[in-house]
Amino acid sequence: MISFAPDTGVWLLSTPRTSYALRVDETGAPCHLAWGPRLTLEEAEELIVPPAPAASSFEGRPAAGEELPVDGGTRYGPPSLQVRFADGTRAFEWQPLGHRVHEPVPGQTELALEFRDRHYPLLTTLHYRVHDDSDVIERWTVLRNTGDESVHLLRADSAAWTLPPRDDYRLSHVTGQWASETQLHRHRPAFGETVLTSRRGVTSHHANPWVMLDAGAATEDHGQVWSAALAWSGSWRVTVHRGPDGRAGFTGGAGHDGTALPLAPGEDFTTPTYAGLYADGGFGATSRAWHAYTLAHVLPHPGEVRPVLYNSWEATGFEVDESGQKALAARAAALGVELYVVDDGWFGARRSERAGLGDWTVSPEGFPDGLGPLVREVHRLGMRFGLWVEPEMVNPDSDLYRRHPDWVLHIPHRTRTELRHQLVLNFARRDVADWAYGWLTRLVAEHAIDFLKWDMNRALSEAGWPDRAEGADRLWTAYVHHLYEVIDRLRADHPALRIESCSGGGGRVDLGILSRTDQAWPSDNTDAADRVSIQHGYSQIYPARTMAAWVTDVPNQHTGRSVPLRFRFHVAMAGVLGVGGDLTRWSDGELAEGAALVDQYKTVRHLVQHGTLHRLRTPAEDGPTAVQYTAADRSEALLLIWQRTPRHGAPRLPVRLAGLDPAARYRDASTGAVHHATVLTAYGLLPDLPPGDWASTAVHLVRVPAPSSLVSRGAAD
Ligand code: DGJ
Repeated sequence: MISFAPDTGVWLLSTPRTSYALRVDETGAPCHLAWGPRLTLEEAEELIVPPAPAASSFEGRPAAGEELPVDGGTRYGPPSLQVRFADGTRAFEWQPLGHRVHEPVPGQTELALEFRDRHYPLLTTLHYRVHDDSDVIERWTVLRNTGDESVHLLRADSAAWTLPPRDDYRLSHVTGQWASETQLHRHRPAFGETVLTSRRGVTSHHANPWVMLDAGAATEDHGQVWSAALAWSGSWRVTVHRGPDGRAGFTGGAGHDGTALPLAPGEDFTTPTYAGLYADGGFGATSRAWHAYTLAHVLPHPGEVRPVLYNSWEATGFEVDESGQKALAARAAALGVELYVVDDGWFGARRSERAGLGDWTVSPEGFPDGLGPLVREVHRLGMRFGLWVEPEMVNPDSDLYRRHPDWVLHIPHRTRTELRHQLVLNFARRDVADWAYGWLTRLVAEHAIDFLKWDMNRALSEAGWPDRAEGADRLWTAYVHHLYEVIDRLRADHPALRIESCSGGGGRVDLGILSRTDQAWPSDNTDAADRVSIQHGYSQIYPARTMAAWVTDVPNQHTGRSVPLRFRFHVAMAGVLGVGGDLTRWSDGELAEGAALVDQYKTVRHLVQHGTLHRLRTPAEDGPTAVQYTAADRSEALLLIWQRTPRHGAPRLPVRLAGLDPAARYRDASTGAVHHATVLTAYGLLPDLPPGDWASTAVHLVRVPAPSSLVSRGAAD
């Protein structure tokens, strides 16, 4: 709901549990008033503070407090909007033009605040969207050049978010690298500015475009947390600032430092959405609200149950051929797999990382009769068929590169740096994007492909576009827009097609790519021990419904560690279960144990994929890590507990559950033991874990129907 007080100019955005208030101030600039617990319009008006005279000639407008700080006047904080007009003038001065409120669809309300520069022909519109069923507020900005000369956007953030004053602040975010993504960090932000960014042209393994801020004392279950996540899959920058005035906030958007986006006469630029959330209930409630929002408003097919998949990559590497794949497919089907995915190595001369990328015709060596016989066999076995592709890349040793050496990102007189022996195709070019769409849509149609694993295995470098004026400035955003467009066109052509986002593991996981794909591959590191921490970081914002997780062989290919099959399954069961081991080497015992665990997953996956997550014990704590997924109606819950390498003497503590129906009792589906919810939540369940390393368990609790006498007594009370 959005309301307005004309006398004071206050706008109040109301979500089910929170409020966001702003107003256009006396100078015409859009200013922040409140973001936090619910307020009435009258209460929000009380927060208007008359402008105080500057304490000294060295002070300016406070860095925190504007809805989109510009680099004009006496603003010395990090600008969200920085423009350079044709005559070289760089500052922007706000002149309000008006506003629009409308309901694009039932349950959503949008506010657009329109401004122009006082002198120059640039329109700036701030957009806000609220939902009836979520506390997440979506914001974005549209910039339009209404003049007849180019304007350069040196920085065009989607939004700036301001926190209320607090004695202290703490920043939560993730860092990482390939095979070690989403490592969670919590620390006090520096006074001054903390920049989180990707300059790689892709979301990146190294940071992810979300932040959470709290006043320093929030826990998993308690405390106020302000967070935001950017829906963008290219380079990005988020600047958290903390001033001597005790205020903190952050601004974020597409693009990294040093790039400028030209806006031609008549052209507009719509920033990606930057969604923000205030939650009272700690990091757990914050994550649950993001998960619910992602399911309700981001994913294209949120309601469906993701199938158990098999992926051949770790089993075969580049040794992909029809008979080998058929042998794996037969075993996968017997294990209970529902979607069989052939990974890299099925096309062109792709027998290693060195050649063939870009030549998307089936390898005659591996598949003399084409992919048809394998696809038919997979379908006959009752599984869907999936295929790996990497449309944005080319090996220099490929027919495509020999034909189109100008299609790659490059800068004259500069080395074309190869990473993994590949170069990046310039997806910003219309002909390249159309070429990719063309072969992809033909491939999907011709082979009845149900699922694509869309990979992207290197960062951009020498990001130039020499035959296009200002090409190097445009390509950072145009690349991502064309990537999105190709995926959108494919989905429109093939409504049953499902897509996994992968970028050498978790290099491209964000709300932008998730709005047009069905799941993501969080990491190439499939070691279940490491995966516990990777999944913990992933779960801070992104739901388990999107988190692909495979069981692979030991010793693990990345870490050399061996952990039991049961532990590997239990860790992977916390997401969308997959299997990625060489099934032709699994013993009968392993295949039988695997089949039983796949079966068990199928009985509880509705809880994992559509329930609510409680992180009961985190990987940072002494002792086992535990997560719980609970049905929306609290009729069932799944508890997964993983004990990595316990410290000798660590106390054996019960795990306290959460979110159960307090009046109910729950039966353990495998032991039959019945527990009172109050006991489970207040005193906890002592997990039945053998001592030692790599013990794990999955406990499925089902609510015991209340005896009818109790129901009628309850109703009468
Ligand atoms: C990187 C992916 O993350 C892996 O799973 C695999 O698909 C390889 N690329 C194939 O080249």
